Amino acid sequence: MCGIVGYLGPRKASSVLLQGLRQLEYRGYDSSGISILTNKKIKIYKKEGKLANLIQEVPEKLNSPLGIGHTRWATHGGVSDTNAHPHISYKERVAIVHNGIIDNFTSLKEELIEKGISFSSDTDSEVLAHLIDYYLDEDPEVAVQKALDRIDGTYGVIALFKDYPDILIGARNGSPLILGVGDGESILASDASAFIGLSRQAIYLDDGDMIVVKAKEYKTLDRHYKEVFKQPETIDAQSTTISKEGFDHFLLKEIFEQPRSLSRAMGEGGRLQAEFGSAKLGGLNLDTRDFFDIENIHIIGMGTAYYAGMVGSQIIERLARIPTQVLDASELRFSNPIVKKNTLYLAISQSGETADTITAVKEIQNKGGRVLGIINVVGSTLARLTEGGVYTHGGQEVSVASTKAFTAQIMALTLLALLLGRKKDVPISYGKILVKALSDIPAKVQQILDQAHKIKQIAEKYSSASSFLFLARGLNYPIALEGALKLKEISYIHAEGFSSGGLKHGPLALVDEKTPSVFIVSEGETFEKSLSNMQEVKARKGKIIVITDSQDNRIKTLADDYFIVPQSEEVLMPLLNVIPLQLLSYYIANHLGRDVDQPRNLAKSVTTD
Ligand code: F6R
Repeated sequence: MCGIVGYLGPRKASSVLLQGLRQLEYRGYDSSGISILTNKKIKIYKKEGKLANLIQEVPEKLNSPLGIGHTRWATHGGVSDTNAHPHISYKERVAIVHNGIIDNFTSLKEELIEKGISFSSDTDSEVLAHLIDYYLDEDPEVAVQKALDRIDGTYGVIALFKDYPDILIGARNGSPLILGVGDGESILASDASAFIGLSRQAIYLDDGDMIVVKAKEYKTLDRHYKEVFKQPETIDAQSTTISKEGFDHFLLKEIFEQPRSLSRAMGEGGRLQAEFGSAKLGGLNLDTRDFFDIENIHIIGMGTAYYAGMVGSQIIERLARIPTQVLDASELRFSNPIVKKNTLYLAISQSGETADTITAVKEIQNKGGRVLGIINVVGSTLARLTEGGVYTHGGQEVSVASTKAFTAQIMALTLLALLLGRKKDVPISYGKILVKALSDIPAKVQQILDQAHKIKQIAEKYSSASSFLFLARGLNYPIALEGALKLKEISYIHAEGFSSGGLKHGPLALVDEKTPSVFIVSEGETFEKSLSNMQEVKARKGKIIVITDSQDNRIKTLADDYFIVPQSEEVLMPLLNVIPLQLLSYYIANHLGRDVDQPRNLAKSVTTD
């Protein structure tokens, strides 16, 4: 779960690398480092902590046309200067940056120690530097191949060589690596965002691929090290610009961006079919008749994406009456899943690089299952692996905690549910009502955001609590889970989401005057029951915060604080109800002085499993 970058060309490599790392810092931020070649010597600068610490360390006058860089999320070995990458080999002829996990590093390390090679870090990655150097009597390409052949595990790796100042060698297996082809310059990176301003032409490596890069040319090899031609692809320019646009944090900017990102998820209206009360999703690669054959849908994802799947599954079942399950990708991959011909699998992911989801998808595909993606990042590993799907078009999400990607995922699933529903039981009249309600969603989200100051007041009032409960029913239940995840993730306050109905089956024991309960209550079938649950909390002197679309006076009497969201169709209420919860978490975390964009121990993209 790290970011790697390598540069070769006429610019000052150190500046390009530091700029690239700034773009990649979301992938891990506990330490960072760069390595460059000057006067036939490999120089390494690395520093524990945020990238700013490294920037202070790197001399301004450093001049070299090539180098590699890394921003780390620790797996093997604690957070320290020595465990930071790049790692240099025992003869100081090779430096590497690595993203991934080398599963057999212990036995390789023992073997290398027996040969008299000493290690300076506790990382798994260091073995790779030594192994390449060990085989370097031949040319570097062969040395890398021999080293990779010894490795079990995942890698995105870039190596530079003391005696070969005009090449970088990269390889990928399970961790992304993309070449940006510039004008007389080359940049290799985990993510195309590191190419900012340098290149819009990208070569995406597939698992098992290796690449030998020079400033003006490159050579790609497949898993058998046979040379293969890969066509450069033009990358989306939008994904390369990141700015806080005047907001204090990316997280706040991304929360406030949701009217726009939700419009984009609806294709600026182009994915809605007002005339037929339906939706149009071009990338599904399904024939109209294929829809009739779908007997089950299984949705796969992790974390926030999993919760979006939980919302989506309920909407699909309500509108399309197709039995739909949500599966935790990390569990599914080891469960020997029963894959059936008429089951449609949907993999949800913002980054498209989540290792658990990728491995689960491969397992399903290996058993012959059809997997479509609900993906944000265009060209990401999952987007390329799946047979089609829906891009969520949420735009680049920089803050580690997912917000706008979540609502865009729900929007994409809702459009799919509407499309499937209209092919089944949903009449055109209700389809039209939904289309109209969907097109009103961005304005309703804006109405909530315009009242953010009210949430801020509530947040500050409760920010000293050490534990929160989030409670809801039905479509709002996953929103309670997401609300709790958001709060714990960025404020480090303990928070749990439960179904309101499940309260008295255990969690009620947690309620006391110091533990606020946040209820998400929409008008509809479960409204009265939710009021009873609030009574149960009130009777135990628990504080109650309510997010609701109801003006019912009983809520105002029961709640210590409440926030009213605009009304919409019941299936669309999760899209509105989650906004105040995102704001609540943000304002609490900010009030407590937390690092809201880069919370401790986390990384944006979980590329290791
Ligand atoms: C929480 C969060 C994570 C991700 C999860 C899946 O705010 O961001 O729970 O949702 O790691 O990531 P993607 O969607 O990139 O597959």
